[in-house]
Amino acid sequence: MADQGVRTWLRWAALHGVPRAFLSLRAMRGEPLAAFTLGRDDPTGRLQRIEQIRAAGRLARTPIVWVSADHEICRIVLRHRDFGVADPAQTSLPDALAAAVRRIDPGLPNPVESPSMLMTDPPEHTAYRKMVSRSFTPRAIAALDARIDELTLDLLDGLDGRGEVDLISDYASQVPAAVISDILGVPVADRRRILSWGNRVAPLLDIGITWQAFRDATHELEDVETYLVDHFRRLPTRNVDETPFSAMALEGGLTDRVLRANAALLIGAGVETTVNLIGNGVIALVNHPDQLALLRQDPGLWPSAVEEMLRFDSPVQMTARRANCDTEIAGVPIAEGTAVVLLLGGANRDPKVFDQPDRFDITRPNARDHVAFGSGIHVCLGAALARNEAVTALRELFDRYPDLHLSGEPVHRGLVNLNGYRKLGVRLQRGEVTRKAS
Ligand code: HEM
Repeated sequence: MADQGVRTWLRWAALHGVPRAFLSLRAMRGEPLAAFTLGRDDPTGRLQRIEQIRAAGRLARTPIVWVSADHEICRIVLRHRDFGVADPAQTSLPDALAAAVRRIDPGLPNPVESPSMLMTDPPEHTAYRKMVSRSFTPRAIAALDARIDELTLDLLDGLDGRGEVDLISDYASQVPAAVISDILGVPVADRRRILSWGNRVAPLLDIGITWQAFRDATHELEDVETYLVDHFRRLPTRNVDETPFSAMALEGGLTDRVLRANAALLIGAGVETTVNLIGNGVIALVNHPDQLALLRQDPGLWPSAVEEMLRFDSPVQMTARRANCDTEIAGVPIAEGTAVVLLLGGANRDPKVFDQPDRFDITRPNARDHVAFGSGIHVCLGAALARNEAVTALRELFDRYPDLHLSGEPVHRGLVNLNGYRKLGVRLQRGEVTRKAS
């Protein structure tokens, strides 16, 4: 057990501890990417850091990585065949240290380590994605749509008469957690665990996290592992409606470890991101009553409002890619093995693409050009589902409580990559006109 603790600490030291010390030094010297990565600013401060990075050039060099907040460059790199995933256990570490980290890999279903498809290059990526995609066909999404409507209305019925609620725990997180549970065939009784996992594993998407956050996330991943081993073992004996995911699991096309890693990815990628979108969307609308008024006049604007929310306050702020060979981007040579950090939230405020990017405008004609879901072969598999969840959850919420307002200062999660709120207190007052979800 003690041995296990030492291994966990060594992994933290290599993957986060050393980068954290280095980033702290660079942040003290005024490097905006280091300060941004460590997440010591409030949301406004973070936007300022992004603008400092943008001002340093379309593709800016730091001592270890390149960084870009440029829309075109982000898209080029994400779609470029010379770039692959930037697995933190293999990128930016000296070879000997990377090998040592691999040797002490506990094999937990970490969504940001291989064999999660998010951290896998072709040909494995192609195979994993093809299998999991069966849960996201238009037919599968349409079936989930009916569930989203039903869930949303049930949750809202539960909020009626409560006056003051925390929209994150009582509403925004419940919809995606239930949907992912349905996809994986997880029973209702275990839904709480899905929420706890998403929450405590989320810091792993940041760089240079504290030992405590890493240790907590690792414990949580151990729980995910135990649960999923059991879940998939019991699947053939359970008399449940077969979901496309459980059918795929039963067919046995993926090894057990790959299956669990990608199930954990769905939990990690599907819950926390969508919670952030719904929460950030509520805040954007409360802060921009003129835009909310437009939605009241024309509810057909909800889908474009959600695109603008994704652009304006992106739930996923960054990703990275690693050059597989010496290559060139926009005339800049990039050496093999170097990582390029792509600030998706920054690209979504690129003034070359979005007119007055700091304005929240739900009628913006090109809002959908955002890269909030990434681009290229790793483009978000759950984008259509997330869009549907957000449109329904937000539309029904404001429909039922048109006078909804904040009851206190929202509490940000304090994470860098998964950008959203941990607590969002609101006062609810039921409106006169209500509609059924359509
Ligand atoms: C607002 C909600 C969401 C946002 C902003 C979001 C964002 C993203 C982004 C930016 C990527 C690409 C990362 C990269 O290229 O490094 C991604 C990948 C992914 N997302 Fe989402 N996501 C959301 C919701 C969901 C949902 C609901 C699911 C599933 C239920 C999901 C499943 C995935 C998966 C499986 C991948 C990996 C795809 C691959 O590697 O081929 N996401 N997401």
